[in-house]
Amino acid sequence: MRTEQAPTIQRVDYQPLAWSVERIDLHFRLEPTGTIVTNRMVCVRNPAAAGVGPIRLWGEALERISLSIDGVEPSAGALRENGSLLEIDVAGPEQSVTLEVVTRVNPKANTTLSGLYLSNGGFFTQCEAEGFRRITCFPDRPDVMARFTVTLDADREACPVLLSNGNLLEQGDLPDGRHYAKWEDPFLKPSYLFALVAAKLVALEREVETASGRKVLLQVWVEEGNLDRCEHAMDSLIHSMRWDETTFGLELDLDRFMIVAVADFNMGAMENKGLNIFNTKFVLAKPDTATDIDYENVESVVAHEYFHNWTGNRVTCRDWFQLTLKEGLTVFRDQQFSADMLARAAGPEGAASARAVKRIDDVRVLRAAQFPEDGGPMAHPIRPDSYQEINNFYTATVYEKGAEVIRMLHTLLGPEGFRNGMDLYFSYHDGCAVTCDDFVDAMAEANGRDLDQFMHWYSQSGTPRLRAAGAWDAASGSYTLSLSQHTPPTPGEAEKQPLVIPVALGLIGPDGRDCALQLEGEAQPGATTRVLALNSAEQHFRFVGLAAEPVPSLLRGFSAPVILELDEDDARLAFRMAHDSDPFNRWDAAQRYSERIILASAGGTMQAVPEAFVAAFRTLLEDTALDPAFRAQALSMPAEGFLLERMSVADPQALRAALVGLTRHLGSVLAGEWRALFAAMQVPGEYRYHPADAGRRALANLALRYLAAAGDAEGLALAQARFDAATNMTERFGALAALAQVSGAAREAALQAFHQRYLKDPLVLDKWFALQAGAWRWSDAAEPTVERVHALMSDPAFSLSNPNKVYALLGTFFRANAGEFHAADGSGHVFWADQVIALNATNPQVASRMARALENWRRYTPELQASIRPQLERVLAAEGLSPDVAEVVGKALS
Ligand code: ARG
Ligand code: ZN
Repeated sequence: MRTEQAPTIQRVDYQPLAWSVERIDLHFRLEPTGTIVTNRMVCVRNPAAAGVGPIRLWGEALERISLSIDGVEPSAGALRENGSLLEIDVAGPEQSVTLEVVTRVNPKANTTLSGLYLSNGGFFTQCEAEGFRRITCFPDRPDVMARFTVTLDADREACPVLLSNGNLLEQGDLPDGRHYAKWEDPFLKPSYLFALVAAKLVALEREVETASGRKVLLQVWVEEGNLDRCEHAMDSLIHSMRWDETTFGLELDLDRFMIVAVADFNMGAMENKGLNIFNTKFVLAKPDTATDIDYENVESVVAHEYFHNWTGNRVTCRDWFQLTLKEGLTVFRDQQFSADMLARAAGPEGAASARAVKRIDDVRVLRAAQFPEDGGPMAHPIRPDSYQEINNFYTATVYEKGAEVIRMLHTLLGPEGFRNGMDLYFSYHDGCAVTCDDFVDAMAEANGRDLDQFMHWYSQSGTPRLRAAGAWDAASGSYTLSLSQHTPPTPGEAEKQPLVIPVALGLIGPDGRDCALQLEGEAQPGATTRVLALNSAEQHFRFVGLAAEPVPSLLRGFSAPVILELDEDDARLAFRMAHDSDPFNRWDAAQRYSERIILASAGGTMQAVPEAFVAAFRTLLEDTALDPAFRAQALSMPAEGFLLERMSVADPQALRAALVGLTRHLGSVLAGEWRALFAAMQVPGEYRYHPADAGRRALANLALRYLAAAGDAEGLALAQARFDAATNMTERFGALAALAQVSGAAREAALQAFHQRYLKDPLVLDKWFALQAGAWRWSDAAEPTVERVHALMSDPAFSLSNPNKVYALLGTFFRANAGEFHAADGSGHVFWADQVIALNATNPQVASRMARALENWRRYTPELQASIRPQLERVLAAEGLSPDVAEVVGKALS
């Protein structure tokens, strides 16, 4: 029998708690199978709730040993338990009581990786969103902010390092080979930011000064063998500190800041106050094991968690519906940071292109992951109105679309206006738990702007469509641009209000140069790019003073998270591919042109790739004036996930065939050009992580991919030679990825050699798993990927209990290989249900992520729907289904 559906929590039901916690003193006697947690807290009546009502605590998977209030056990009638909620009546009039609760937990049995758990013999915690209640009883909500002191008591041999938030007060030995450490966090914090680590680790340390001259100790803690892979994370941390000081005037507020790497971790990383805990994937990097992309990811995740110290920790969320308050804002901040870092490395000449490359990366993610979410059964506004399981709402919508919403504010208010809004936000809300309205109100007040209509971005789901049409009037030399918007209905939201959509645009003259823009009524022409704010269903903008009909370039820099509907013929797309002065739009023109060809070919309405497309593509390929990183972007196909979303009936098989066809064609007709490009993109000397080098390597690797796809013998020989001689992971893995596209002995030998070389290196093996799980079949003779994935589950290095392994092998197959996952015989779907059910029993968060791979099943062909439905139903009927998976599958079937 399936478990009962979790109740739905509504945003409008928010109520402050009657009792809050002022101080909490925690003592941990750490033992792998029976850790004793003694929690003494000072509970106080909450003036915001008039102090009427019981003390409410949450506890989950805890064995309660004792509970007392001011030293007295509550009477049976004063204590009620309902699921994870514990309510205690305080009979007297006291304003404050001391509540002591002692519990036992079993970290070793905790396979959920939420709460206190073991990884490789060490103790680690993960509390966001609701993991703290799996450690002790507590009013586990972000609006309860308390001062924490923590004492850790553990075996000295097994756990020589004992860490928690804040400052180390004292440490010393205890009898029986044990030792202890006592930590105090000087800042008030919500329970989700609590952390402890007790493990055998070593640290890379640096002492630096903050802008105001305070000395702070920075540490990156890892297992001993990984000490040579921490330098880049440390550098990234220091760069992040400097950036936040100069960009937002925000300084580190602690005497020490620690990053700890752990191999078993459900997501990327966690911003616990002063003690960030990271997935090893986003800390460890050295040339032999990490690619340029890994280096980039380490930098941006380190920055993201560091930036949370202000946007998330100093000012936190009142309730979990406000998650985007911290996540959207912090993603925006890390995106800006990465763009600035890239621009700085590129120098003044290359800065604009470098920024565009970063923007393209971010928009690719948004289109491939967030647009489909917005078009499916899990669609939700960046501030959701309801949820069954909050862990399901750490989504591309809350994070990536949330960041787009902040970016629009930045665009509309300008960098200075935005900074003023941030300053005001901190001046009002530092030390508080607040809402998205509080943030936007501060932005509005600091800029004297009315942002009421802008708030629809927080309350409406779905991807808006922006329709544009232009009319040229030769007689008056004017061009009228008509812009209209509409958002298709989403579950529970039939009607949509018009949004404020910033539309950055330019008009390109026939000579390929931007025109100076002058709206009717303006005295003179101005800049060549400007931002129009569309705020009603339809608006017209008349540009005057034009000599000839211009070509519009709309949504420059992707100024709003919308789908642009604009009729452009092939010639116009080719023109913009060659001339658009906005590098983002230049890339986007290439994407649109490819998309058109791929979808026409998938839909059977196009037999051959048009010559004009190949010519436009060749021009980009050979344009040495363009930065290699940009060319690598412009010559890459749109993401499969995005293309599926663009098909009226999603047909993964047909799409895959079209992608294979186009890739092969471009590989073979341009084989000579690709080979020349590969040769031109060699990076001499020792590996260094630098964006300029990374761009060249990315382009060289792309050349190999196209050549291998086309089965070009010379290209394959280049890949083989590169694979054999590579001195860094970017080149070695790039070559392997090319070789792995062609079935046969060379493929298997290369995979085998790679496996052998990195047998002891779990993070590198993740790449090896992912590469095979993501494999396309370039010939009918090739082995179906599902069979390989199945076989790889028996590899000794694979484990269902390690999230990185699951994401690499199963996640890549389910979420990034639609063509193979949706094999017509339905084998992928049966395999999916088996794995979701297996994972559900041990780690609901990971299971739920995998479950989401089929949520958009109703968009597929009838044959595929018929194959998927019974598997969704099988999962829904599974015994002991977690609320996490139940919500996803329930919504998919409803
Ligand atoms: N706050 C963390 C971050 O964005 C992520 C926490 C995710 N938690 C979860 N239950 N999925 O950096
Ligand atoms: Zn975050």
